[in-house]
Amino acid sequence: MACVVIVGSQWGDEGKGKVVDLLTEDARGIVRFQGGNNAGHTLVVGEEKFIFHLIPSGILHQGKACYIGNGVVIDPQVLLQEMEKLDQRGMPVGSEKLRISDRAHVIMPYHQALDLAREKAKGKDAIGTTGRGIGPCYEDKAARVGVRMIDLLEPEVLKAKVEANTKEKNFWLTQYYKGEPLDAGHIYREYLEYGNILRDYVGDVPAELHEVLADGENILFEGAQGIHLDIDHGTYPYVTSSNPVSGSVSSGAGVGITRIDEVLGIVKAYTTRVGGGPFPTELEDDTGAWLRDKGQEFGSTTGRPRRCGWLDTVVVRRSVMLAGITGLCVTKLDVLTGLKKLKICTGYRTPEGDLIDTIPASLERLGACQPVYEEMAGWQEDITGARSLSDLPEACRVYLDHIAELCGCRLSIVSIGPGREQTIVLHNPFA
Ligand code: GDP
Ligand code: IMO
Ligand code: MG
Repeated sequence: MACVVIVGSQWGDEGKGKVVDLLTEDARGIVRFQGGNNAGHTLVVGEEKFIFHLIPSGILHQGKACYIGNGVVIDPQVLLQEMEKLDQRGMPVGSEKLRISDRAHVIMPYHQALDLAREKAKGKDAIGTTGRGIGPCYEDKAARVGVRMIDLLEPEVLKAKVEANTKEKNFWLTQYYKGEPLDAGHIYREYLEYGNILRDYVGDVPAELHEVLADGENILFEGAQGIHLDIDHGTYPYVTSSNPVSGSVSSGAGVGITRIDEVLGIVKAYTTRVGGGPFPTELEDDTGAWLRDKGQEFGSTTGRPRRCGWLDTVVVRRSVMLAGITGLCVTKLDVLTGLKKLKICTGYRTPEGDLIDTIPASLERLGACQPVYEEMAGWQEDITGARSLSDLPEACRVYLDHIAELCGCRLSIVSIGPGREQTIVLHNPFA
């Protein structure tokens, strides 16, 4: 029996979905524990491509159960669309295969309306959110007025909450943001119906996970976003509203931290970021455009072009520390093929000329830091067919070794293409 947590070690889109799909083979349960449909996790299986926003990326495997923990915020409409798409592709998702925490909070139409209105009002200072209502939903959870999945099954509770919340949110939407009001009756009826459809899927997820563990089976926890988007540890306020660090498995799924055996940190071989906020190694030149084009760096949720830059080991090293990462999985290494020289950021130079290897909390200060690079040799060979480290060119192996050394963590997996088989496993975290 083992519990493995997958986390993104940068600003999201590191390739978590692919790795979760790969490791699902060894797990009985696959669990989302934070975030919502701001996530977009892509899986490529043979000729087929799947993008999941809420359903855990283990769903394609037979005989496995997927769980959406209480720490996730759920847009029921998006969830049902995702289930329907799988159904259309011949993979119906029954209530034995997908379990939803009765305590998970629900993203309501007023959350999305507020998210969009606020971003618009911020203008050039916008966070660049996904516009899915994530922040406002977590706000209501903290304010203790949120709607939980269980409420969708209790008409009187739902009605009272929707009426009170819509009244308050309409005040902000119309009086402050000068937008249109929402209709509480309409929302109530729509969400009651979602409750009716999802009733059998809703349950006590922590208790169910503890049964899986009691049976001696493995559980895989699927992080969303990345540690530098964490509301506590990220580049605040350019962050999401949840905690993508591994520790939130405990609060977001109800499995205690003493049960966690391994934390696999997913590291893209370069860096990307969607939305606003500091990005010290960003390349706003031809190389950045080349990486975006070659790596197909366009958001899986919003389709926005991702900002691209060199690998920043200050960022990853800090993630290793914050999330207790026990192994690194380097993805998209194949994208770097063809570059004559690579740069890898090892520290930052402050305006005073000091060399630091930490991330200042002050965004002003971080923005004033210059990345310090080491230059490394690139490689020209196609590596997408490699199945062991020895199949990789020398320069590629040197780059990987240097990442592990600079990040202070061993290398567990290397991904050299989007397909399941395009993977080199050096150490399976379930082994
Ligand atoms: P996630 O949010 O962390 O799951 O990552 P995304 O799915 O948003 O973005 C990762 C993208 O890279 C997806 O389109 C994957 O299919 C793709 N991908 C994952 N690993 C590799 C890899 O090793 N090489 C290449 N070329 N693409 C990869
Ligand atoms: P996955 O799981 C990349 C970013 C948004 C924005 C900020 C806040 O696919 O890696 P939010 O809608 O969460 O309030 O937006 O966080 N963001 C992501 N960036 N990958 C993600 O998820 C993201 N989820 C949120 O672009 O900058
Ligand atoms: Mg993504």
